[in-house]
Amino acid sequence: MPLSSSTPHIHLSPGQPPLLRAEFDGDPADWAVRNRDTLRTAVAEHGQLLVRGLGLSGPDAVASVFRACAHTLMADPEPFAPRRTYGEGLYSATKWPPNQQMCMHHEVSYALDFPGLMLFACLEAPVSGGATGLADAAAVLDALPADLTKRFEQEGWVLTRTYHDEIGASLAEAFGTDDRDAVSAYCRSHAIDFAWQSDGSLRTRQHRGAVLRHPVDGRRVWFNQIAFLSEWTMDPEVRDYLVEEYGAEGLPFNTLYGNGDPVGEDVVRVLNEVYEAHTVRVGWQACDVLLVDNIRTAHSREPFEGPREMLAALADPVRLADCAPTAGVSA
Ligand SMILES: [Fe+2]
Repeated sequence: MPLSSSTPHIHLSPGQPPLLRAEFDGDPADWAVRNRDTLRTAVAEHGQLLVRGLGLSGPDAVASVFRACAHTLMADPEPFAPRRTYGEGLYSATKWPPNQQMCMHHEVSYALDFPGLMLFACLEAPVSGGATGLADAAAVLDALPADLTKRFEQEGWVLTRTYHDEIGASLAEAFGTDDRDAVSAYCRSHAIDFAWQSDGSLRTRQHRGAVLRHPVDGRRVWFNQIAFLSEWTMDPEVRDYLVEEYGAEGLPFNTLYGNGDPVGEDVVRVLNEVYEAHTVRVGWQACDVLLVDNIRTAHSREPFEGPREMLAALADPVRLADCAPTAGVSA
């Protein structure tokens, strides 16, 4: 039974994500159902909310809480790195080398439909590091150099991907199938230009808007993965190896200006510096749940040591076309 049925209080501290302490001794999913409006209102107001103190016994409990918080859990479309699937709509965190930073990004910002809400839960916190960073995408847009944002607003951005057998997400991981006809059909229907290579690999190119308008609150936001999926964000040794092995055009992923020009290392550095200046961090504790407005707020993951068991869900899909992208969607 709950100790109190009153509306939980949300703690706001500078440099910290909004925090709600769940004080109860019942079923976490019941608590989430009872407090769903409070949780969703807080995310709409602040762009993010950390819920601490839920007694999450395992993936099933997490799934129940996620389903209570979200309208719809969705599949992970076109992932660039694999996740473990725990159940329908319930995934591990993206598999990424623990000693490498995952830079700021909005989940699947390169797809035509992306999650409006991201849900994260911690079952085991790492020994050290592993914080999730959060950055307000409207503040980032305001802080970036005007000439840089103007060009991306006018042109949009391009994501290029090459699917090899050896590295990065496989065709089956990215598209749910390795059947050529099915993959080709997916690309045609999702505004992805594609070309099968003589060695059997696939190269794709998708052109998207870099600045969107939030479909609910109307804020203009820097919404893309120009920095994170750039060759200049890769570990230099990894990049050098990949360029040597596959050629500059054959990297597993890279980003370009909307007109196809390369994005310089200096631009990517500025993007990551502005993100860093606007980052608040969630130092995970076991049983924490984090709700993130995926359009309003970018997220990242810091390097860590030791086991780190995180679950994630993509929820409440939003259509790119409903966010007034400043550059046209095209292949
Ligand atoms: Fe992510």
